[in-house]
Amino acid sequence: MKEKVAILDCGGQYTKVIDRKVRELGVYTDILPLGAELEKIKDYSALILSGGPSSVWSEGAPKYDAAIFDIGKPILGICYGMQLINEHFGGRVLPQVKTEYGQTEIEIDTSCPLFDGLDASQKVLMSHGDAVKVLADGFKCVGKTGDVVAAIYDSERKIVGVQFHPEVELSENGVKMLENFLRGICGLKEVYALEDRIETSVKMIRERVGDGKVIVLVSGGVDSAVTAALLVRALKPEQVYAIHIDHGLMRKNESDLICANLYKLGLTQMRRINAENEFFNTALDIDGVHYDTLSNTTDPEQKRDIIGYMFFDVTNKAAKEINLDFETAYLAQGTLRPDLIESGNPDVSGYAHKIKKHHNDVDIIRALRDRGHVIETNWDWHKDEVRQVARLLGLDEEIASRQPFPGPGLGVRLICCDGAIPDQPREKVEAVEKFVESESGGSLTVRLGPVKSVGVQGDNRSYKTLSTLYGGGIDGADFDMISKIAREIPNKFDYINRVAYCVSDGAHDADGVECAGMHICRETADLLREIDAIVTKNIMNKRIAQCFAVLFPMSVDKGKKYSCAIRAVLTSDFMTASSAMPGVDFTIDALKNTVDEIKAAVGDKISMIFYDVTGKPPATVEWE
Ligand code: XMP
Repeated sequence: MKEKVAILDCGGQYTKVIDRKVRELGVYTDILPLGAELEKIKDYSALILSGGPSSVWSEGAPKYDAAIFDIGKPILGICYGMQLINEHFGGRVLPQVKTEYGQTEIEIDTSCPLFDGLDASQKVLMSHGDAVKVLADGFKCVGKTGDVVAAIYDSERKIVGVQFHPEVELSENGVKMLENFLRGICGLKEVYALEDRIETSVKMIRERVGDGKVIVLVSGGVDSAVTAALLVRALKPEQVYAIHIDHGLMRKNESDLICANLYKLGLTQMRRINAENEFFNTALDIDGVHYDTLSNTTDPEQKRDIIGYMFFDVTNKAAKEINLDFETAYLAQGTLRPDLIESGNPDVSGYAHKIKKHHNDVDIIRALRDRGHVIETNWDWHKDEVRQVARLLGLDEEIASRQPFPGPGLGVRLICCDGAIPDQPREKVEAVEKFVESESGGSLTVRLGPVKSVGVQGDNRSYKTLSTLYGGGIDGADFDMISKIAREIPNKFDYINRVAYCVSDGAHDADGVECAGMHICRETADLLREIDAIVTKNIMNKRIAQCFAVLFPMSVDKGKKYSCAIRAVLTSDFMTASSAMPGVDFTIDALKNTVDEIKAAVGDKISMIFYDVTGKPPATVEWE
């Protein structure tokens, strides 16, 4: 590509969003620090200065080379970026009396090419405490909120600044403004398509690997399949070794399907490793911390640590058997941007708080990555982009549209504990009971516990009590009302992050629940595999992004130790999600069939069947 845009990062939380939006408009981008070398910056056709948390007048403001403004490149400054431009060219930026935050209506000068084709009044997202007080020489004010400057433009130098964030959805015509900047003001003509990204990725693989060898871990999902396909395209067949580890926590028949598909991909060197016993029954010391075996572990993050570590351990052993090690060979994996954001990976987001540790971002992988030995072909892509790439690479639709499956597999869907979590104080339980009774007009009852699950609230991880609702089973359910109450419960009661509705039965008394505990073992994994296959077969459809079953220890019937939950979500990026609505996103018959088939297949072990009605936030898609 000859045309490319540098996004100079001033520390803003939306820098990556600017990157994604500009790429969606078909323009190649790189994110560089604001203080990047001038020589490097000169290679770009245009610059975008991002937002940032500092004040341009403060001591700690990020440093930059003032010559970036003299090299004649068109520049768009966003929020802090605009203030920097104004200050640099002799204007003044000062703290504003009233901070602007949230969606705001601005008036724009539609003769400015940034606003070409737009109405004079625009809704945009503002998020700033400083404002332009004196306009820089040569600049014209081309947008205002009341008397606050919202946009500035210098037509001679082709430099434009906006106080708001055109990159986010709350700026309704933000994408059009970015397009006007790129295609109008900068005059960029080239279109950087997904095909080009494939070529960029192939080039990167060739440059990094050279004549070396790569071990690709193939889980069976679309992400690692795309990585494997890119490696096959970039390298000679004898350079690529694929390893599929069956940790005993795969879905029904999954390993067979994956291996058959991998042969079709053209992978000639592939190993399938059955490692259930090692995964379930190895006690570990990781960085001086002792971990009991997976089958004796109940803490969600410890389970993830163990599974992540075991993946690496088993892979290492498998590599040795084919005379490879990671001192010389590379490890390739299909990590996506959201995985790293949610793992709190500092390379992706200095701001992200860890929600849950993904198996492909555990410490040992981070250490390898620091040594430049991890190849992540999908590093910069979101799920929807990976699916498109999969199709372009000619992968089977069965793989391209495959619903995601977490690396730790069914391990995070087996909710383990030694016994019921301690009850919430009586007054807390009563408060929820009272709320549910009054909101449902007495048609629903609620129970808290006996397990906890993981959620994400206010960008932080939570691990809180499960609450379950009971009404008239499926026939008597008003899912609109149930969803409304499920939305309100976590908002009102901060000790709850997930709500599930009982679809197998009618009302229950709040008493009489037993929890004998549960652990990962062949029996529980087999049971969940069976239920999961029934749930997926009946409920999964094109609207639903992910659908699966969860097993947890809860019983109201003697001799039946477990209950299960059906989880089906709508989402495109998995950073947020809503629970799929029975009767809207899939049929009530599908739900009934699921319940009947579960009862017929494993009714002797399953006490109750629930439908998870919680969005993300406050819950996460997975329960752990
Ligand atoms: P959560 O539960 O965080 O899930 O809302 C978002 C998406 O990520 C998947 N997920 C994982 N994927 N390794 C993965 O490759 C993991 O450790 C992992 N944990 C969750 C989850 O299935 C959903 O699609």
